[in-house]
Amino acid sequence: MKITLFAPLDMHLHLREGAMLRLVAPFSAAQFAGAVIMPNLVPPVDNADRLDRYRAEVLSATQPYPFLPLMTLFFRPYDAATLQTLRDQIFAIKLYPEGVTTNSSGGVSDMAAIEPTLALMEELGIPLLVHGETHGFVLDRETEFLPIYERWARAFPRLRIVMEHITTAAALDLLERYPNLFATVTLHHLMITLDDVAGGLLQPHLFCKPIAKRPADRDALLAAALSGHPKLMFGSDSAPHPIDRKEAAFCAAGVFSAPVLLPMLVELFERHDALDRLPDFVSGNACCIHGLTPPSRIVKLVEDPWQVPARYGDVVPFAAGQTLRWRVVD
Ligand code: DOR
Ligand code: ZN
Repeated sequence: MKITLFAPLDMHLHLREGAMLRLVAPFSAAQFAGAVIMPNLVPPVDNADRLDRYRAEVLSATQPYPFLPLMTLFFRPYDAATLQTLRDQIFAIKLYPEGVTTNSSGGVSDMAAIEPTLALMEELGIPLLVHGETHGFVLDRETEFLPIYERWARAFPRLRIVMEHITTAAALDLLERYPNLFATVTLHHLMITLDDVAGGLLQPHLFCKPIAKRPADRDALLAAALSGHPKLMFGSDSAPHPIDRKEAAFCAAGVFSAPVLLPMLVELFERHDALDRLPDFVSGNACCIHGLTPPSRIVKLVEDPWQVPARYGDVVPFAAGQTLRWRVVD
């Protein structure tokens, strides 16, 4: 059996820079026609020069694949002139609350103070992508952030707001309430719960932010994805860290899922008899929501079992050692 997907998109991807970028980018470019590239580098991507250089580095690392990097800017309280200049070079702006995750120390500490920039983004049609977590108790961080989404969705009804990598049933509920709220969800949050991370021996390679939640949350996310929820987009949040940063005290947050994304998504949707919903989840919904026209690429998968390697370079992938049924072919 063969499966073809038209222009799959990964709407949330960490590629890093330098040698790590060159190691990980080909996995995404081989499977996806494009991806939303996260800006949480050190220093962050927050000006035109850095943006141009980073886009060029991504394009060079994704050769020879036709791959559209949808570049994002790290949220700052940008003024109108800056946003007008940058608007045509970016897909969106990514907002991190200060200190909530990897490389977010330059994030936002006062959510009320940034509303003038949100008003400008609304005016200019620049989408807002949000890492929506507070500094509260780890399982409640996403839920505690939901009132902030609500406030912005109401105050800026023409601002397209994407709740990134949602992990709770409560976030799904909020999607229904505001027409300008959308969400991405990862592969790993459709599959694992907190038990997989910390219920037995600690699994650092499954540790990420937001942390995986309860079975009821995972099941609600999966049901929404399988049902073809039109406001839900696939975004892997594949976030590579070298093994010495993962298998260590102060383990870095991030799941490196890029090499296994489409094979595992196909297997998951197939298992639930929902393969017909996969094209919209991995492409159609994002194209409709954002008016995207990715390179017209057809990605094929064939049934040909393979074992996920224990490592790619010094990075351990999601599902390392497991046998997957589907393989992406060129
Ligand atoms: O687990 C995560 N890793 N969550 C994020 O928000 C950032 C990411 C990273 O950059 O490593
Ligand atoms: Zn991320």
